[in-house]
Amino acid sequence: MMQIPGREPNTPPHEVASRGSSGLSRRELFPLLAGGALAPIFPRVSFPFTGGDGGREYPAKLIEDPILREQLERFQDWKFGLFMHWGIYSLWGAVESWPMEGAEGYGRPSLPQWKECNGDLEEFRRRYRALKKEFNPQQFDVNPWVEAAKAAGMRYCIFTTKHHDGFCMFPTAHTDFRVGDSGCPFHDDPRSDVAGVIFSAFRKAGFATGAYFSKPDWNHRDFWDPELPAPNKYPNYDVAAHPKRWEKFKKFLHAQVEELMSQYHPDILWFDGSWVQAPKYDIDIDAVANAARGKNRRVIVVDRWVAGPHENYYTPEQKIPPAPLAHPWESCISMGDQWSFKPEERYKSVRQLVHLLVEVVAKGGNLLLNIGPGPDGRWDPIAHDRMEGIASWMSVNAEAIHGTRSFAPYRTDRVAFTQKGKTLYVIHLAQRSETGPPPEIIFPLRVAEGSKVTFLGAPRSSEPLVAMERDGSTRVQIPTSIRQAPPCADAWTLKIEGR
Ligand code: GLC
Repeated sequence: MMQIPGREPNTPPHEVASRGSSGLSRRELFPLLAGGALAPIFPRVSFPFTGGDGGREYPAKLIEDPILREQLERFQDWKFGLFMHWGIYSLWGAVESWPMEGAEGYGRPSLPQWKECNGDLEEFRRRYRALKKEFNPQQFDVNPWVEAAKAAGMRYCIFTTKHHDGFCMFPTAHTDFRVGDSGCPFHDDPRSDVAGVIFSAFRKAGFATGAYFSKPDWNHRDFWDPELPAPNKYPNYDVAAHPKRWEKFKKFLHAQVEELMSQYHPDILWFDGSWVQAPKYDIDIDAVANAARGKNRRVIVVDRWVAGPHENYYTPEQKIPPAPLAHPWESCISMGDQWSFKPEERYKSVRQLVHLLVEVVAKGGNLLLNIGPGPDGRWDPIAHDRMEGIASWMSVNAEAIHGTRSFAPYRTDRVAFTQKGKTLYVIHLAQRSETGPPPEIIFPLRVAEGSKVTFLGAPRSSEPLVAMERDGSTRVQIPTSIRQAPPCADAWTLKIEGR
């Protein structure tokens, strides 16, 4: 039996890959898992720390609200989304706003601006905040982003309306630390409602939209008291001893979320900054979610990494779970090494990106792929190049991605599975030296007799493919004509339709 790392011992038998010697019925070959992500198949999945979630567990969870369930089903059909981190930090090519934080301060040591400050963190923070006076992305044009995302088969776009630094990429009445303030050179530009320009263009093109919003705010005086040292990412005063101050911060947060909901009606509210949570730093997320649903009954709320009713889906970061999670999920993964723009970024190859997408989808998740726009308002041409590569793959294989659900054994060394209704897709992931499909695609499942096997993207005139079974595995020979002129690169899909 094939072992899936992390598989729980009580996995039901229909989830197990290869089995006894008798042929499988159609029912067995196509166990209908649609909606399965809501059924607690795996009670708990945890996996080692490689991102920011501290290796937390992802227990099974049932959403009861029927409207939200329906919305999460839709969300799971989208499969592929665009994430964008853009803010004043992009001017320095910094690790988002982290360098201004005292304890973790990711990426600060290597910034020339830090070296200039001779270890003076307060001076460094002043200079960082003064970037507001430089933010002027004259080349900002959302259209090529929409086109690239659309061609790549992305279905939603999540944008950083405010990162931990508190700088707002949307009009807000509650702080001057925003693009639209007169102290920012971009304030009188018709595109100064940056988030609005992005959301409306994507929405017009049929995308769903999501507002990333960080709960902490390192610019707000009731989060970081400017009179006191701020040693780490937490509030720098005793919140329990000063409940009124904390109340003020809470009100501010509620008011900003209200603005986002009224201005943009996003489909997803994606809250980052999980260290701001009850009991110590209670922001009354129930009230936030209720108020948001008052504006959009269908909004999906993601209070990420805060186990509770408002983590509507899970968000593993920069990693893929070893097996499907028993609750809708989305891996957010950056195309380069970091979320926000940096010059000379190292981007993943098209092949890596296609394989990431396939693996995430095979495990029943969504891939939220991040690109960080540069300070001038453009993507690195390499990011466009990668998106074109994905688009060309998706132009052939999208049907094996969108609207699918996971199918055990999810993936082996070489192939990944997805299913839609009664159709099974077997995606062969190009191995190191492969530039076209191999002579045979082999996978550890039996195909019901009489199933129709086709190769996605093969000319209509191609002869039907023959599936042969041996020792519980299926081998499908790929005709030379297809091998010589493959319809795409990096991964090739067999479509298997039951009788
Ligand atoms: C982490 C980082 C943050 C980034 C986010 C994206 O939580 O702290 O900088 O915005 O991941 O998923």
